[in-house]
Amino acid sequence: MNPTTVLTHPVTPAWQALAAHHADIAEAQLRDLFKDDPQRFERFCLRAAGLTLDYSKNRITTDTVGHLLALARERGLEAARDAMFAGAHINNTEDRAVLHTALRNPAGSRVEVDGEDVMPAVLAVRKRVGDFAEAVRDGKWTGYTGEAVTDVVNIGIGGSDLGPAMACEALAAHGHPRLRMHFVSNVDGDQLARVLAKVVPARTLFIIASKTFTTIETMTNAASARAWFLAGGASEQDIARHFVAVSTNAARVAEFGIAADNMFGFWDWVGGRYSMWSAVGLPVALYVGREGFEAMLDGAHAMDRHFAEAPLEANMPVILALLGVWYRSFFNAGSQCIAPYAQALSRMPAYLQQLEMESNGKSVTRDGQPVASLTCPVVWGEPGTNGQHAFFQLLHQGTDLIPVDFIAPLKASHGLPDHHRLLLANCIAQSKALMVGKTAAEVRAELAASGMDADAAQALVPHRVFPGNRPSNTLLMPELSPRTLGTLIALYEHKVFVQGVIWDVNSFDQWGVELGKQIATRIAGELAGGPAGEHDASTLGLIAMARTSAS
Ligand code: F6P
Repeated sequence: MNPTTVLTHPVTPAWQALAAHHADIAEAQLRDLFKDDPQRFERFCLRAAGLTLDYSKNRITTDTVGHLLALARERGLEAARDAMFAGAHINNTEDRAVLHTALRNPAGSRVEVDGEDVMPAVLAVRKRVGDFAEAVRDGKWTGYTGEAVTDVVNIGIGGSDLGPAMACEALAAHGHPRLRMHFVSNVDGDQLARVLAKVVPARTLFIIASKTFTTIETMTNAASARAWFLAGGASEQDIARHFVAVSTNAARVAEFGIAADNMFGFWDWVGGRYSMWSAVGLPVALYVGREGFEAMLDGAHAMDRHFAEAPLEANMPVILALLGVWYRSFFNAGSQCIAPYAQALSRMPAYLQQLEMESNGKSVTRDGQPVASLTCPVVWGEPGTNGQHAFFQLLHQGTDLIPVDFIAPLKASHGLPDHHRLLLANCIAQSKALMVGKTAAEVRAELAASGMDADAAQALVPHRVFPGNRPSNTLLMPELSPRTLGTLIALYEHKVFVQGVIWDVNSFDQWGVELGKQIATRIAGELAGGPAGEHDASTLGLIAMARTSAS
C-alpha cells in the first residue's frame, strides 16, 4: 500500500452515516457551537475515576457522538472489550491473551487464561516486588561492601524502559530521597557511559529488564554494565547483590548469570508496552515504595472498572478513542499532539508514542486484509509551556489540523503556587485560542486601537489572523500522584484498544519492528569485519563509510 494513499471508508451503515455527517458539519465553527449551546461544557464533559475530560472543544455535535457510538457498536466494541478482560486470545497473530488489566486487579479476583487462574502468580510477583523494594529502600538490602543502594540503573528498551522511566520522572515528588534513578535504553554507549560515570559499583543496583531477554540493545548494555562492575573490584559472587532481572525468559536470565532468586517474572500475555504494571514496574516500586506502586495499580484498576462497566456514551476511553477516529479517519488528521502541562510528565509523549504507534500503526486488518481507513496518527508532543515557544505556532496557524490533548494536574506538587497558576492559565488559554482563533475584523480593530494607520494594518491582517476551529481535549486530574498517574495511563491504554477495534487491527503485535532488527544484525556482522553482504548501492556506500571510520 502506498503510505500516502487516502483510503475510502468501509462500506458499512455507521461509516457511511459518519461520512455523510462529516460533510454536513465539516465547516461548522466551534465558536458558534459554543454560542448556540450554553450547556456545551456540561454536555461534553466526563468525570471518571478522579479524572475530568472536557471534550467540548471538539468539532462535534450530539449527532456526531451518536454516529460515533453507532460505529463503536457496529464494530462490536462491547464484546471485544469483554473478551479482552475475560482472557480470550485476542492477540491473534501471536495466539495470546491480553491481560495487563489482571496485573492491577486487587486480591480476591479471579482471571483465567486457558482455564488457569493467573491471579495467584500475579499477586505472588507483586509481593516479591514490594518486599524487594522495601528492603532496598530501608537499606536492608546492601551492596557487596555493606553500603545501602543509592543508585538504580534500569537497563531495558521500549516497553521495558519507557513506562518506568516516564513514571519515575512523573513521581519524582514522591521518590525516596536517597535513591537516584537512571535509565539506559540506547545501544549508543554514550548513554551507558554517562550513567556509569555518575555511579559507584558498591552502591549501584542494576535492573536488567527485557521480556524476551534477547533484545540486542539491552543485552549489550547489560554485558557492558557487568564488565564495568567487575572491573571496579567486585567479584562474580557480588553480582547477586547488584544485578536483578525482570523477564519472562528464565533460561536466558540464568545464562546471563543472574540467579533465580534475583529474577522477577511476568508472562507472555503481558505486552511489552503494557508491562509497567508487572515486575517491569520494579524501578517505580523502588522509587515510590510498595504503597506508591500499589496506588498506581489501584488507579489503573479504577479506570479498568470504568471502561468495563460504564455505558459507551459515558465511557471516557471510548469517547477519547472515538474523537481520535473522527479526526484521523474523517478529517485525515495525520498527527495527534500530547501537551502535558506538567514538567513531571515530560516523558509521557514518548511513552504514548510506543503505546499508540506500536499498537495501532498497522495497515492490515486482524485477518490480514488491507485496512479500509487510515489508522494510528503520528503521536508527538512536549510539555507546556515549553511547546508554546516552539511548535504551537504551527498548531495555531499551520496548514494541518492537529488535535491536541492538554493534560494538567490542578494542584502542584511543589511549593511555588504562583507558577502553577500561570501554568494552568496557559493551558486553558491555549485550548481557547486554538478554538476561537482571531478574525480579520478583530485583528483590524486591535491594530486600529494600537494607533496603526489603516494601510499598514491591512498588510498585517493576513499574518495576524488565527483561523481557530482547532480541536482539543483537556484532561484534568486533582494532582499528579501514583494513583492519578495509573488512572491516566490506563485511560490511554483503553483508548488504544478501542481504536484498534474500530480500525480492525491487532493492537498487540509489532511485526513492523522485525525487519530493521534482522538487517541490523547482518550489517553489524559486516561492520565487525565479516564478509560483505548483498546490498543496494546506498547501503553499500554507507557500510563502506562506517567501516572506514571504525578501523
Ligand atoms: O521494539 C520492539 C519491542 O519488541 C517492543 O515491543 C518491546 O517493548 C521492546 O522491543 C523491548 O523488548 P524486550 O522487553 O523483550 O527487551
